[in-house]
Amino acid sequence: MPGYIATLRSLIGSLISLAAILGIATIMGVYLGIDIGTSGTKTLAMRDDGKILATATAEYPLSNPKPGWSEQDPEHWWLATIKTVRAVLKAGKLKPAAIGGIGLSGQMHGSVFLDKREQVIRPALLWNDQRTAAECAEIESRAGGRAQLIELVANPALTGFTAPKVLWLRNHEPKNFDRMNQILLPKDYVRFRLTGEFATEVSDASGTLLLDVRNRRWSRQLLDRLELDPALLPAVFESEEVSGRLSQLAAKKLGLPVGVPVVGGGGDQAAGAVGNGIVRKGVISATMGTSGVVFAHSDQVQYDPQGRLHTFCHAVHGQWHVMGVVLSAGGSLQWYRNQFAATEVALARRKKVDPYELLTAQAAEAPAGCEGLFFLPYLTGERTPHADPNARGAWVGLSLRHTRAHFVRSIIEGATYAMRDSLEIIRKLQIPVKEVRLSGGGARSRFWRQMQADIYGERVVTTNSAEGPAYGVALLAAVGTGAYKNIVEACQVTIKVEQTASPNAKARKTYDEAYPLYQKLYRSLKDDFRIIAELVNR
Ligand code: XUL
Repeated sequence: MPGYIATLRSLIGSLISLAAILGIATIMGVYLGIDIGTSGTKTLAMRDDGKILATATAEYPLSNPKPGWSEQDPEHWWLATIKTVRAVLKAGKLKPAAIGGIGLSGQMHGSVFLDKREQVIRPALLWNDQRTAAECAEIESRAGGRAQLIELVANPALTGFTAPKVLWLRNHEPKNFDRMNQILLPKDYVRFRLTGEFATEVSDASGTLLLDVRNRRWSRQLLDRLELDPALLPAVFESEEVSGRLSQLAAKKLGLPVGVPVVGGGGDQAAGAVGNGIVRKGVISATMGTSGVVFAHSDQVQYDPQGRLHTFCHAVHGQWHVMGVVLSAGGSLQWYRNQFAATEVALARRKKVDPYELLTAQAAEAPAGCEGLFFLPYLTGERTPHADPNARGAWVGLSLRHTRAHFVRSIIEGATYAMRDSLEIIRKLQIPVKEVRLSGGGARSRFWRQMQADIYGERVVTTNSAEGPAYGVALLAAVGTGAYKNIVEACQVTIKVEQTASPNAKARKTYDEAYPLYQKLYRSLKDDFRIIAELVNR
């Protein structure tokens, strides 16, 4: 190293130590992560070494004006942002001047329509809104077919995505469509209120179905075919890039200084993955909440030609991800608990333990493979791999030998096989899988962790990070304002592996033999599920 560089480095080192002694280093070392969720907004304050200083959440309602419709008033997101930021500053006893940057995450795919005066035109349509089946067909046809659409934007049209919502507005509320001057995603509406800028970032923009995911910019080709003006869409940033700064008005509302940088952030799935360290090749995650998500990092754009997985830009600069979504993973066990486990729930209350603890202990009494009892977890239809709203849950293979333990275990096995379906598509895309990071309810019990290792046939691990998307975007804010070189470095410093489980050879063999039959059962029952739906909807 040339002498003058060494001298310069040591001078900078001394300045940093001096700043630390004077308390200046802590002054710029706190980052806020704000996650605009569906049921509420969560804000956290993170010190630059990854330590969480405070968290706060504020809930808001969801409205279902018609069956299958799901809407929210964007004003609620803004009010919840103000409330939770102020609560975090208070709870963490943080000096406003300590906040070095803000990262935004949120529910994906929602549509906020603004007019020329920057006012919201109508309530936002959300990711779980199902009104746009006709518009999905229209998009496919205008794109020149499903394969051509996947070629342009890496994904097929799904009712939850944003583009079908825009076409719905044009088809059903033409006056509102004519007034529209800007389309924003939920977290980007909050960004607009924070900074006055119309901006988004690549990971969330991928879920609009209007992004050329390969080239990380709006797809002019698809916009042309849909006859949509590109000026309706905001500027696209990478996730750690500074997209704007806190305006005077917003600073006053939040109790923060004017000019705090706001980085791009990420859609909730990509941001959650960053918060769990899924930022490099070979590391994937399996998250079991009500739904289950299998998420894989990829250093190139890879998409399933059948469109069963979502292929989106990752919140990691210049990288991508694929993900599969199981609609009722933990949700199936939750349904069982609510409908059939009153005894266990009452016992859990007496013992002051989580009812799931008792249910998994009961499941462990039955052997792997449940002596031929299978459960299909399609209680709310299925996204990956079947994309079938008519799919239903089923128990198949019952005999007199089966006990309550078999019932519970078969649910846990069925939900885990469903996650393996996504993992198998990821493997077929040649995406390397070296480690599966578990989170959500499925990561809490040692029994379910081991079962995931056995059914996936992979080493599974848990990490110290349980805060999800808000944590991921706080890390992105730290990266974007210079606390770390990049997000990989930030995750290496802050996220540590805790428990690990490796496949047990005997159980793995049992599951490997049973899995093809699990897959076949959906194929055998598919037509019957459709007939059941016709009967019920008649
Ligand atoms: C992602 C998805 C959900 C929503 C709501 O494709 O639909 O994760 O972002 O959380």
